[in-house]
Amino acid sequence: MKNTKNFHASWSSRWTFILAAAGSAVGLGNIWKFPYIAGENGGGAFVIVYILCIVIIALPIMVAEVTLGRMGKKSPVNTIRDLIQSSDAHKSFNIIGWMGVSAGLLILSYYAVIAGWALSYIEHMISGTFHNINAENAGLIFDNLLKNKNELIFWQSLFMLMTVIVVIFGINKGLGLAAQILMPLLFILLIGLLIFGYQQGDLAKAFSFLFGFNFESLSWKAVLVALGHAFFTLSIGMGAMMTYGVYMPADSRVFSNVLMVGILDTLVALIAGLVIFSIVFVNPSIESSAGPGLMFVSLPVAFGNMLGGLIFGTIFFVLVTLAAWSSSISLIEPAIAYLIESRKCTRLMASLALGFIAWIIGLGSVFSFNIWAEEKIAGFNFFELIDFITANIMLPLSGLLVAILIGWKIKSKMVEDQLLSDSPRLFFAWKWAIKFVSPLAVIVVLVMGIYPRLV
Ligand code: PFF
Repeated sequence: MKNTKNFHASWSSRWTFILAAAGSAVGLGNIWKFPYIAGENGGGAFVIVYILCIVIIALPIMVAEVTLGRMGKKSPVNTIRDLIQSSDAHKSFNIIGWMGVSAGLLILSYYAVIAGWALSYIEHMISGTFHNINAENAGLIFDNLLKNKNELIFWQSLFMLMTVIVVIFGINKGLGLAAQILMPLLFILLIGLLIFGYQQGDLAKAFSFLFGFNFESLSWKAVLVALGHAFFTLSIGMGAMMTYGVYMPADSRVFSNVLMVGILDTLVALIAGLVIFSIVFVNPSIESSAGPGLMFVSLPVAFGNMLGGLIFGTIFFVLVTLAAWSSSISLIEPAIAYLIESRKCTRLMASLALGFIAWIIGLGSVFSFNIWAEEKIAGFNFFELIDFITANIMLPLSGLLVAILIGWKIKSKMVEDQLLSDSPRLFFAWKWAIKFVSPLAVIVVLVMGIYPRLV
């Protein structure tokens, strides 16, 4: 009898974790960002470095974050503070919590702008704008959207409102679940698009572009972008995954659950990349290095020219919006949890205040695509700057500190209690990775990627 009960408890919590964590991980990072940064950084070698970063750096750090969450059972800021106290670690580790909260809000600020583009594309799909469209016209429609700052603000505000409403009512789990039921549909649609790419596009070229070894074109900056994206796409380095660790009871299998989320997330990104590039390579007017607009120019061409494409296109952009929605709530939730726990704020006040702050900062990203397009700091416009600082500096730095904290400061016994029984062999491999490989790799990539920009 007892066994049956345990089985059910761990079964349901296993899925709660996987669904919630995948809801946070799979988002715009996979479908919108991965393909365009792969294109900007020359494809092949970048993708291989990205996968390496996921396996040897990001997954061990994800295990670490989930484990910290299971130990602390509070919002990231307070979890870190408690663990610092109980392990006599230096107070400066508190920066993990703070940097996480700030990175979350900064990412959310532009995440809402891009999700707004997806919202506006639902409208375009429904109204038939893309019917039989060619790449030039798809490019024009996208450029016109970017020029129209009022329209961008409208969609950005709508998405921010959607995010804030969910966190106000605390129905994250409900949305996470709903999104996860629809996520398989997104997956099936992506596979359908892959078949379209095979029939009408140049899938073979897309494949060799994404998986070819052209290491000559790989710069340290590209390696830094790959590392930053490994953190971004798995939602680590900002405390989001600590929140999900709380769902896991002591006897569940952290390693296999984390691995499952990692595999799902990577598959979605790689398939999205293959789909987009197979369309790009048969349309000479779309550059593989087109930047943030890549998906918004290439996919309408696919949907506009396939049977039933406008219906599939509508469903696709609805699903992308949902995937973005279930990620955006995990960007803001750590900050809200902190305000409620420590500043005696109500959930309503915390959600409204933080949503408003992220919205205001997001206006800078809206303007980066029109009136501020030429305003640059160190070669970056506002959107690029926020993206670079958060994904490529703050997330890896915070991940580095998490690795040092759990690998060197927190008592080994506490960590063993959490992970050893899961799989002793994986535990020792992980311990080695988190103590040496991950931190050293992050340090080398951060230094080599940033140093040339400073001198
Ligand atoms: N992982 C999300 C994506 O790939 O779109 C973005 C994200 C969500 C990053 C939540 C960080 C986070 F905490």
